[in-house]
Amino acid sequence: MHDIIKQLEAKREQARLGGGQKRINAQHGKGKLTARERIELLLDEGSFEEWDMFVEHRCTDFGMANESVPGDGVVTGYGMINGRLTFVYSQDFTVFGGSLSEAHAEKICKVMDQAMKVGAPVIGLNDSGGARIQEGVASLGGYAEIFQRNVSASGVIPQISLIMGPSAGGAVYSPALTDFIFMVKDSSYMFVTGPEVVKTVTHEEVTAEELGGAITHSTKSGVCDRAFENDVEAILMLRRFFNYLPLSNKEKPPVRKGADTAERLDYSLDTLVPDNANKPYDMHELIVKTVDDGDFFEIQPDYAKNIIIGFARIEGQTVGIVANQPLVLAGCLDIKSSIKAARFVRFCDAFNIPVVTFVDVPGFMPGTSQEYGGIIKHGAKLLYAYAECTVPKITVITRKAYGGAYDVMASKHLRGDVNFAWPSAEIAVMGPKGAVEIIFREEKGDPAKLAEREAEYKAKFANPFVAGRRGYIDDVIMPHETRKRVARSLAMLKDKDIENPWRKHGNIPL
Ligand code: HXC
Repeated sequence: MHDIIKQLEAKREQARLGGGQKRINAQHGKGKLTARERIELLLDEGSFEEWDMFVEHRCTDFGMANESVPGDGVVTGYGMINGRLTFVYSQDFTVFGGSLSEAHAEKICKVMDQAMKVGAPVIGLNDSGGARIQEGVASLGGYAEIFQRNVSASGVIPQISLIMGPSAGGAVYSPALTDFIFMVKDSSYMFVTGPEVVKTVTHEEVTAEELGGAITHSTKSGVCDRAFENDVEAILMLRRFFNYLPLSNKEKPPVRKGADTAERLDYSLDTLVPDNANKPYDMHELIVKTVDDGDFFEIQPDYAKNIIIGFARIEGQTVGIVANQPLVLAGCLDIKSSIKAARFVRFCDAFNIPVVTFVDVPGFMPGTSQEYGGIIKHGAKLLYAYAECTVPKITVITRKAYGGAYDVMASKHLRGDVNFAWPSAEIAVMGPKGAVEIIFREEKGDPAKLAEREAEYKAKFANPFVAGRRGYIDDVIMPHETRKRVARSLAMLKDKDIENPWRKHGNIPL
């Protein structure tokens, strides 16, 4: 017995050391934490229950029979974040570069399966050289086993990927199938084919950072939802982010009440919208002044900035915020912003998070690049997402709600539960200038007459009352009471329960 205990301790010690002190130092030298240090920081102190510390690979080719490290390059198990359960895996770059063997994949699959059985999120801390080259197809099989589980878990439990090192080749597709991808600047990258292959095939010269670093994916591709300065910031922000989410689709998100009261009025909002309809303003101001304690966790803040998405709380309850941003492209909907918001609305819907939408949208972006890029299909994604969404939907139109974009942005017709407008709202088929130029085309040579027509159109349609008369707007509210009115609506909708007709699945225009 004594011997066994000694052996056990020795094995544990070996597993904790991963690829050895030299490689741990190298990891630290790159400004990265080790797999275990990351878990320690992520989970509540002392809460980590590790599984499969003694798992080893089964490969005998290429001299691997004598090269084995207990744990096989990934630390797996479960623990708590602020007292709430999560499953976790953390790839250990010091062991075969964190590469994925058959056994390594089995460890990840085991925690994913368990997470599904108990209904708790899976967080993957990725730092891996990809498929374990010595294992060949066994490793590829391992990836596919993970992909299948990612898909089965989609919409059932939240899945979050933190990329903290390399993620290349087909390995990128597991994070891509999860709900959110966070990356660390300067030490992580994701690409399907690396710089060398790119050079051979397309003759482009590009660095790994330019091709797939955190800045690239958080500004250009939209693959990354948030980019952080270093491992510590990324993990601490992930802990904060976790607090917004329910553990599974069977639960509601946790309620965390702050000091802010629902009745709080903010008179500075009464002057947020400029008198000149063509002048922009920052929609962030309305968001932070409406939600609890001004606390807003923005998703994709540097990508498709013409739409703002993110999580906040109202009376302690998590809400998803979607808002047009007049500061960028006048808040137009284009391909990127439609996809960005559509995916977010679907996440909220899958996980019982009410959606609050702030609208100031002059329409869909015109032009050949948008049409050739398929704005018809991509814009329809947002329409589809809002229309199928059954969680509480509250909409506030602050200014423009023109054309098809009016319909799309959680209008009454797409089962918006409560639709408010500010007195400055203009709900119409299009802006006054464009409208009169079409209706009164024959008067184009007479600017004075056209200006008169424009004023007439403006007085008639550029207001919230035409829609209000038809009940498309439930009330015209003062900007300063936005928080109060949204909070009351959310409270009223607490037990909302509607269902879509049965089907295997819908066919969203992908
Ligand atoms: C086995 C690997 C490995 C791998 C790295 N290592 N990648 N071992 N399989 N895929 C080992 C190295 O041999 C080295 O071992 C240690 O990890 C650290 O690697 P270094 O090269 O010293 O580190 P660094 O300079 O930081 O470079 C990291 C790297 C590079 C860029 C990831 O190692 C690399 O290019 N690896 C190969 C990547 C690759 O081609 N993977 C397959 C992709 S295809 P020692 O003993 O020296 O410490 C794929 C398909 C998935 O993944 C398909 C799914 C459908």
